[in-house]
Amino acid sequence: MLDWSSFLLKRKHLDEISWEDFHQLPLTEKANYFVQNNGRPYHVLIAQQFERESLDKLCDLATRIRRIAKSKAGMDFLSLLLKHKRAMLDFTQPSSRTFLSFYAACQILGIRPAEVRNSSTSSEMKGESRMDTMRTFSSYFDLLIMRTPEQNLAEKTAWMLSNTERPVPIINAGSGKDQHPTQALLDVYTLQRSFERRGGIEGKHIVFCGDLARGRTVRSLAKLLTHYPNVRITFAAPGALQIGTDILAQLDSAGLPYELTADFKSTIPEADAIYMTRIQDEWDTEGDTPAKFNLEEYSFSADDLKRLPQQAVIMHPLPRRTEIDPACDNDPRAVYWRQMRNGMWIRSALIATIFVRDNEITNYYMMNIK
Ligand code: CP
Repeated sequence: MLDWSSFLLKRKHLDEISWEDFHQLPLTEKANYFVQNNGRPYHVLIAQQFERESLDKLCDLATRIRRIAKSKAGMDFLSLLLKHKRAMLDFTQPSSRTFLSFYAACQILGIRPAEVRNSSTSSEMKGESRMDTMRTFSSYFDLLIMRTPEQNLAEKTAWMLSNTERPVPIINAGSGKDQHPTQALLDVYTLQRSFERRGGIEGKHIVFCGDLARGRTVRSLAKLLTHYPNVRITFAAPGALQIGTDILAQLDSAGLPYELTADFKSTIPEADAIYMTRIQDEWDTEGDTPAKFNLEEYSFSADDLKRLPQQAVIMHPLPRRTEIDPACDNDPRAVYWRQMRNGMWIRSALIATIFVRDNEITNYYMMNIK
């Protein structure tokens, strides 16, 4: 049976700290404010709130849900678990996968989802503040799932609601250039499944390639990889798009070895997993555009498959442009479409855990599937 009680000891209360004090806390301390009474996550806002044990629990639960969902009886069971709940998906930044996989996860668990995908349709156009908008959502829904261009909006919403009569859970579905914690969860789940027969994620060499400065998926995943012994990371990017020093400091303090290089192609024969990313030029601003570089040097071509080890995998959070040749898609090492589907299962597991339905799922699994 899943036991979350070990996380209880650290629990702190958001309504007992000012926003200014909370905002300044180190991320590892902030994490203590996102736990609920039973030790499970309540808000899911930053990658730093996950530890090895919670990652393992969520991955196990995702697999159970995936297996249960194979039959009509299983789907019927899952769809009754949270039939009494409603979720608001507030996505003011473009999204296909995160939006739809959360939407599908809600449907799997019986939650009725609603959506705002463009704030021009909300009363914010009449001058209402973002915080008042979020408080309005919390009046009608039991869970808020937010994608925002602003770095701290989800955290601020969680803090603000903690001082109201409806402090509903908040899930960060991507915030600014900074965090994408649930993408990191699905990436860990994909790595774990990919290396199931090779001793797990432990000891693997993960190569990140592309826009690592502004790619929030890499920033969140790098942090989660510190929980797996003997992992090493290579960050392959043009100078201006190299990973941030804040992430390197976190790797240093966890003792995870890493290398920085501008020569992606030389890393391919040494990789267990290649994690490609898109150049995030939506963040370019006038006067702040990275120097030109040869995009092909940071792309994975069909020719590169010949130099990739047979047991390695190619991942991508998607969407892609030209950084992976579609000719690679049918190679068994290309797992990015599976990775995308894994998002639906791990997000189902996360929502079921937030609403404390995880043990019921495990009981059903033990009685009917195992
Ligand atoms: N990986 C990811 O966040 O994709 P979307 O932007 O399509 O949600």
